[in-house]
Amino acid sequence: MKTPIKLKVKPIRNGTVIDHITANRALSVLKILDLPNQKNTVTIAMNVLSSQMGSKDIVKIEGRELASKEVDKIALIAPYATINIIRDYKLVDKGKVHLMNKISGIFKCPNPNCITNTDEPVNTKFLVIEKKPVILRCYYCERIMEESEIEAQF
Ligand SMILES: Nc1ncnc2c1ncn2[C@@H]1O[C@H](COP(=O)(O)OP(=O)(O)OP(=O)(O)O)[C@@H](O)[C@H]1O
Ligand SMILES: [Mg+2]
Ligand SMILES: [Zn+2]
Repeated sequence: MKTPIKLKVKPIRNGTVIDHITANRALSVLKILDLPNQKNTVTIAMNVLSSQMGSKDIVKIEGRELASKEVDKIALIAPYATINIIRDYKLVDKGKVHLMNKISGIFKCPNPNCITNTDEPVNTKFLVIEKKPVILRCYYCERIMEESEIEAQF
């Protein structure tokens, strides 16, 4: 008789667990954090069953705590994400991501005729119309941007 296989992910000692990421967005979260170019040990779970969300992704990063600017970017593509800080194996802080009302200079407006895409020295600016799911509107040309379009730019 075969023994059932039990896999257990090693707990992290110091670092960050990003939980409740919108399903299939874990790789975009890694990109936002530039993790493909770092040496941190990272554990990724995708399409995990979640009682709150149906399915979700989780990213666990050893040896890294996040800057608020990074958390702001994660909020744009994973508005339900929870940021858990682990120190000495213990969960010491848990917070929800939250989005600011205006987003400047992070991504381009998809409208080629927008003033921000001309030679004029105008920085992009989007107003946050809805937070869950995220919907942005270009301040200049009123072009609407949804999460999937935002994700495509990371
Ligand atoms: N030392 C650790 N190493 C790795 N992951 C951890 C560690 N401690 C907690 N976690 C993970 O951090 C997340 C939050 O832990 P917590 O115990 O608060 O779970 P929870 O009660 O399900 O949280 P929530 O209410 O936010 O869903 C979980 O995904 C958990 O697996
Ligand atoms: Mg939970
Ligand atoms: Zn625009």
